[in-house]
Amino acid sequence: MKKHIIGNWKMNGMQSHLTEIQKIDEIAALFDNIMTGLCVPATLIYSAHKDKKAVIIGAQDCHQSKEGAHTGCLSAAMVKEAGAKMVILGHSERRQDQGENSRLVSQKADAAIDNNITPIICVGESLAQRESGQAEKIVSEQLLASLPSNKPQKMIIAYEPIWAIGTGKIPQMEEVREIHEVIFRLLTQKYGDAANDYPILYGGSMNGENASELLKLAHVDGGLVGGASLTADKFAPILKAASQNS
Ligand code: PGA
Repeated sequence: MKKHIIGNWKMNGMQSHLTEIQKIDEIAALFDNIMTGLCVPATLIYSAHKDKKAVIIGAQDCHQSKEGAHTGCLSAAMVKEAGAKMVILGHSERRQDQGENSRLVSQKADAAIDNNITPIICVGESLAQRESGQAEKIVSEQLLASLPSNKPQKMIIAYEPIWAIGTGKIPQMEEVREIHEVIFRLLTQKYGDAANDYPILYGGSMNGENASELLKLAHVDGGLVGGASLTADKFAPILKAASQNS
């Protein structure tokens, strides 16, 4: 499987940052043995995806319903029409800030799949859960409850320990390996051989320095990258590491 490196711009990025996306696209084109993606704010999806050669543009959320009275929300069809090919769902920031639970994430995944957008389903434990030895249990429960109703053709899973996001801290390599193996095992139990087609990304303070070591681990098929995806200068070394480890 190609390594997948997907940037998550979160609530960052104005029209003036389209030049950075252009630069990232040019670098992504140099590494054609990997998949490079950028999940940008909804306001940038349309302009970001136009004329891009290599980078795949995604959204950061979508609503579970097709349409209707949901002020301020965007349906999967809307982000698709704007140009998104994938959508991040159940990021821990949305689970915390917007109170999203795994059942809702699963419904959103169904909406994404119905609209032919690849869901990127995020799971991850808190520091307290990690320290009390519950990481595997929490991630397993979250994962199984967040999956779509039917076997998807395309789906990406991101393991993001909450305490590693934006903090500069990452788990021990062995801890990452263990959780990725658990995720792969659960996907295999549920979907059989199709599990081999679902990339499992690591997310949380991935950068140019630690990417290579992380991407060498079994079942680490790529990364979901926040802070280090905001500029081409910081993102490029991660893309290079992925290309070298593909
Ligand atoms: P970070 O964010 O790389 O800035 O830690 C990752 C994420 O939240 O997806």
